[in-house]
Amino acid sequence: MNNKKKYSILTVNGPNLKYLGKRNVDIYGSKSMDDLPSLLDKHGQNVLQKAELDFFQANSEGDIIDRIELAWQDKISGIVINPGAYTHTSLALADCLAWINIPYVEVHLSNIWSRDKIRQHSLTARHSMGVVAGFGIMSYVYGLQAVVDYLDINISLEGK
Ligand code: DQA
Repeated sequence: MNNKKKYSILTVNGPNLKYLGKRNVDIYGSKSMDDLPSLLDKHGQNVLQKAELDFFQANSEGDIIDRIELAWQDKISGIVINPGAYTHTSLALADCLAWINIPYVEVHLSNIWSRDKIRQHSLTARHSMGVVAGFGIMSYVYGLQAVVDYLDINISLEGK
């Protein structure tokens, strides 16, 4: 695997996810994105071996869309996105994810379907490969693993 190219996967976090591990720990848990590398090492099967990971967080809708457009220009392999509250409100972000044609998994720390009504609907999941929700920070591990598996099954690493 050493001199083979890796998949490029961008993880995007939306508003209020900067202080993960500090914000509403009863709902979102006490782990932060800093804990992700060691969790991936332990539980992520082959994510770290197969993928080059990049992380982005922004609170504003436009900045998130700008970053995803950049990812599209760079022809990245896949996206894991937690759009935060924009999940439920942002047609603009949903429009962006609809056209870029990059396989993505939507993740949520909490199980959004067990929460208040407005959080039970996602505008942004429609074009996703699927949604992982309710596993705290492990939702990102499963989301990343799902993207890698999808790419392994559908796209050869060779010639990418
Ligand atoms: C969230 C769920 C959203 O409803 C909320 O606005 C968030 C976090 C989650 O990860 O569980 O900011 O996306």
